[in-house]
Amino acid sequence: MKKLNYFLMLALISVGLLLHSCSDDDDDGDAKVEPFEFTQAGLDAATNVLELDITGGTMAHNGDPTMTGDDTFRDIYSNMADASMAATEGDIITKRVFMKDSLGNRTGDAVVTFAMVKHAPGYDSINGDWEWVMMPGAPTTTNPNGLLTGERVVRGNGTAMASCAACHSGGTDYRFKFPS
Ligand code: HEC
Repeated sequence: MKKLNYFLMLALISVGLLLHSCSDDDDDGDAKVEPFEFTQAGLDAATNVLELDITGGTMAHNGDPTMTGDDTFRDIYSNMADASMAATEGDIITKRVFMKDSLGNRTGDAVVTFAMVKHAPGYDSINGDWEWVMMPGAPTTTNPNGLLTGERVVRGNGTAMASCAACHSGGTDYRFKFPS
C-alpha cells in the first residue's frame, strides 16, 4: 500500500510538471515577437511608386562629387502603401539613380540603388532606427531595387553609415520626400 502511494505521488508530480511546462508554451501573452528581418525578398517587394523622375539639387546621388543633381534622375519606391504615414518597423524605401545623356534623357539602367529600412525600436534609437544601404551597379528584373549581396554593397546603422544619417537628419524622421 505504501509503495502504491509512492507511485501515485510520482505520477501526480510528473503530470504536474508536464502541465506546467505546457503552460509556458501557451499563447498566454508572453510570446516573443521576433524583430523584423531585412531580406532580399523584402527588398524586391518594395515596388510601390512614391515618386519618379526627381532631378536637380546640389548632389548627384551617384557618388560623383563633380556632378550635380541635374545630371541624374531618381526614382523612389517603397513597400509602404501610404507614404504619407510615419514609417514603422519593416518599412523599406528605395531610391534608384539614373544618369542623363547629353540631351537630358534618362539612360539605360540605374547606376546605383539605395535603401532605408526601418527596424524595431532599439536597433539604432539615436538615429531613428534606420538601416542604410548603398548598392552600386545596375539592378535586375528579379532584383529591381538592387542586390543586397553585391560585392560593393555597404550597409549599416546610422553610425556605420554616418554620412547618410547626417544628411538625412534634415528630413522628417530622416525622410526627405515623404511624409513632408
Ligand atoms: C548630402 C545629402 C544626402 C546624403 C549624404 C544622402 N542622401 Fe539620400 N537623399 C537626399 C535627398 C535630398 C533626397 C531626396 C530625393 C532626391 O533628391 O533624390 C534623398 C532621398 C533618399 C531616399 C528616398 C527617401 C527619402 O528620404 O526621400 C533614400 C532611400 C536615400 N536617400 C538613401 C540614402 C542612403 C542609403 C545614403 C547613404 C549611402 C544617402 N541617402 C545619403 C540627400 C542625401
